[in-house]
Amino acid sequence: MTDATDIARLHADFEASLAVASSEGDLQALRDRFLGRKQGRVTDLFGTLAKAAPEIKRELGRQINELKAHIEQALDARRASIEASRPPAGFVDVTLPGRPPAPVARRHPLTVMRERIESVFTRWGYEIVDGPETEDDWHCFEALNMPAEHPARDMQDTLYLERPFTRGVAGRPGTRTPPPADVASLLRTHTSAMQIHYMTRHEPPIRIIAPGRVYRRDNLDVTHTPMFQQVEGLVVGERVTMGDLKGTIVAFLQELFGEKTRVVFRPSFFPYTEPSADVFASCHKCGGSGCAMCKRTGFIEVLGCGMVHPAVFEAVGYPKGRYTGFAFGMGIERLALLTYGVDDIRHFYENDLRFLEQFPS
Ligand code: DAH
Repeated sequence: MTDATDIARLHADFEASLAVASSEGDLQALRDRFLGRKQGRVTDLFGTLAKAAPEIKRELGRQINELKAHIEQALDARRASIEASRPPAGFVDVTLPGRPPAPVARRHPLTVMRERIESVFTRWGYEIVDGPETEDDWHCFEALNMPAEHPARDMQDTLYLERPFTRGVAGRPGTRTPPPADVASLLRTHTSAMQIHYMTRHEPPIRIIAPGRVYRRDNLDVTHTPMFQQVEGLVVGERVTMGDLKGTIVAFLQELFGEKTRVVFRPSFFPYTEPSADVFASCHKCGGSGCAMCKRTGFIEVLGCGMVHPAVFEAVGYPKGRYTGFAFGMGIERLALLTYGVDDIRHFYENDLRFLEQFPS
């Protein structure tokens, strides 16, 4: 039997449900549940009226009608308020937190170092040349005046390829004997091989730098990686002197490390240069007074150089005595370690972004 309590309970039930309705979908569900034509709960109440006692029928009917009207009105009112608070089309909520910007890519510190070196020399009119990383014994050693018993040619130091390869050698016509076809093949141990590649194809005047990867049979440690990078330099002409070499190297190191850098040349030995020198730059961290970076000496060894040995000119077929020239070679990793004060060369090759992000790009 339906009575006033049922109506009051239904009313309370509706109010509670309305309180948590927050979307138009919720409102539609409420409308179906209470007013649906087949199973709506208010509709059901009308159905039970027929069985109500005649003396209360009229009053109950009035109350149910009132509840129905109340529900319809409440649902309409709530729909209107939801619509009013809906953001207009194209609305941008400026209070939302921003999206974090995508990380900006940077150049690798070794690339930055190489490009700094290249930019100095290209400004001075040098050409940048590129060449093979797989080499033959002749370009890497023999033509550079390194005899068969030279320690660099030892299996312990050089990575040899399993089988020799032959490469078509396009020399300047008729100027030199090509290497025998079966010479040992290897991964170049220094970019000095590029001196030979270039000179066998070009007549002086020559002004080049050759940056690139080189390989040695070294185990990984704080100062060694089996692959690293060098920049080779070569200048050849009719009256190139040791004074030109010194001036060039001093100017270069002052460009790289600053105007106040002092440069010292110390006699050294390389088979492909005579005389040869090791070059030291005053430590740019302490300015030459001595610190941990320069091991308290005030100076840091930065490159090797010298005047091209006549045996090298002979190997590439230049006429005896016509040309002189100088060459130099430096390690990019080494310069980067010194420039940035990095203590372990392996960091450069581990691709750890926490390391790489610390460098200017
Ligand atoms: N090739 C030498 C090395 O790998 C560096 C070098 C020294 C290059 C003297 C030169 C040079 O051209 O003249 O350590």
